[in-house]
Amino acid sequence: MLESQLQALAASAQQRIDAAASPDALEAVRVEVLGRKGALAEVSKGMGKLTPTDRVRIGKLLNSTKTTLESALDARLKSFADAALAARLDAEWLDVTLPAPGTRPGALHPLTRIQQELEDLFTSMGVAVLDGPEVESEYNNFDALNIPPDHPARDMQDTFWLSSGQCLRTHTSPVQVRGMAKLGPPLLMIAPGRVFRNEEVDASHEHTFYQLEGMMVDRNVSIAHMLYFMRTLLKHIFNREVTVRLRPGYFPFVEPGFELDIQCLICNGSGCPVCKQSGWVELLPCGLVHPNVLRMGGIDPDRWGGFAFGLGLTRLVMMRYGIDDIRWLQSGDLRFLRQF
Ligand code: DAH
Repeated sequence: MLESQLQALAASAQQRIDAAASPDALEAVRVEVLGRKGALAEVSKGMGKLTPTDRVRIGKLLNSTKTTLESALDARLKSFADAALAARLDAEWLDVTLPAPGTRPGALHPLTRIQQELEDLFTSMGVAVLDGPEVESEYNNFDALNIPPDHPARDMQDTFWLSSGQCLRTHTSPVQVRGMAKLGPPLLMIAPGRVFRNEEVDASHEHTFYQLEGMMVDRNVSIAHMLYFMRTLLKHIFNREVTVRLRPGYFPFVEPGFELDIQCLICNGSGCPVCKQSGWVELLPCGLVHPNVLRMGGIDPDRWGGFAFGLGLTRLVMMRYGIDDIRWLQSGDLRFLRQF
């Protein structure tokens, strides 16, 4: 009696195992058949009424049924795992024979690139390339450039002062002072570098930007020499004729002083945020070196003369590449940088 009950139970359990469509369905069969309150446990309750001989026989049969069903369950469960793995391997494959994608090559920052192009140009013209510190003395940044402490021109540049009394240089002009001391007359030099102003940041102003200073000291230096150098520079960078205008400008270290503006290359003169809607961009302030500056540089202004200019390198880069917001340059944003 128990024997046939067990056989029927085993057969139906095996059928359900074979038909189970998921690991969850299998688990349900396991609980119903092999669980503590399952069908097999139910059968074993009736064992107490059996004769000792029958009990041994049925006990064995019960055990073997249990083992058989357990391994059938495990096998079916493993087949689900195998199928899942096979499906995954099918979906997520990798061709290891393909060539590696390789690293993305880096590139020079546009500022570095233009700076190097200008250094190459000027070096080929026999001009010395000088370097100066970003933390500069008050004397070099101001006094030696004919900007004494009470001079109103000190307010033209909002300065980051350090507790040491030094400042972050507000322009590359202090390298003129260093250049005169280092080279003596006659001299022909440029000095590219980073400068700092305590300014509100917007599309055309940054607290940190780049300039390129130029200076020539020789006999009979004229504005024609100055214009020649500046035109050569612009032509080299833009590779085309650029419309320029020269207007008077005031800087304590030059006399006379000028502003050389270029027509905005972003809007072609029609007005945009970079040129503040004026169509022109101040790019090259310049002039003939003030006698006081020469004198403080240890050069006799009666025997020597000179010109100087302070190119806005950052603006030049913006014009050259059509960048309409200065903040991109120091953003570190890869979407911007990868274009160069
Ligand atoms: N240092 C000036 C500035 O940053 C720019 C400048 C003007 C430099 C005239 C010069 C110059 O060498 O001659 O505002």
